[in-house]
Amino acid sequence: MFPVLLTPWLKSNFTHKKSNSPLLIADLGSGSAELTRQIIQNVLRKKNLQPLTIVAFDNSEVSQLIAQKNLSCFNESIDIVKKGKLNESDFLVLIKNHKKPVKVILCSNDIFNIENDFENIHFNIIYHSFFKHHLNKAQKIKIDGIIKKKSEIALEYDGYHSLLGATIQAFFVWKNPVLLSGAIFSNLRYYSKQELKKFSKDSKVYIYRFGTLLFYRGTYMRIVNK
Ligand SMILES: C[S@@+](CC[C@H](N)C(=O)[O-])C[C@H]1O[C@@H](n2cnc3c(N)ncnc32)[C@H](O)[C@@H]1O
Repeated sequence: MFPVLLTPWLKSNFTHKKSNSPLLIADLGSGSAELTRQIIQNVLRKKNLQPLTIVAFDNSEVSQLIAQKNLSCFNESIDIVKKGKLNESDFLVLIKNHKKPVKVILCSNDIFNIENDFENIHFNIIYHSFFKHHLNKAQKIKIDGIIKKKSEIALEYDGYHSLLGATIQAFFVWKNPVLLSGAIFSNLRYYSKQELKKFSKDSKVYIYRFGTLLFYRGTYMRIVNK
């Protein structure tokens, strides 16, 4: 994972103590929860920490198990609760009992149903990474609308479309059909820089380019702060 994912956390005081009530954060399509792991690693180093509850949404059991294993590196210092599909009342019970500074709830609710499943719950921050390019145009619009309604701050991290990037990645993985199709098809589905510019009306968009000819990746971070 690129360190840029943590940039907003490192620069901001999202998790600096403002109150004793836990910050409620959601990671949509959390996969291995690597971003969540890095955020926790970072916030645990801070002193005056506002308690955090991070809800990692992923509807794949395999992803949830991988996430649970990935987060087990924190041993006893955080609470990890793995659940299936949660309803609002179970959810409220889970977020009330906060014994450790960080609690992660792994749940399998469909992210497109968050509004119905958690009608009265509002997240301080919603983020997602390397997820949006998997969605079609209608789903992208839908998820943006849901996130806007359900969060104060939204962070979106993904790759942007680059012919150069796709060609370089394809060159290095051409012997591996899975990685090759991933490199090409992911790149084709990424937003172009022109499309990203359109977001600058309601959000801040930061473009990052890593590497040289040997290693190339173009990514962006979009921050919507109400
Ligand atoms: C590309 S992967 C995860 C990327 C991960 N966030 C990262 O940064 O590496 C997308 C994940 O979203 C999950 N997913 C896809 N559609 C979903 C949905 N409708 N609701 C919940 N999870 C979903 C998939 O199971 C998958 O694990």
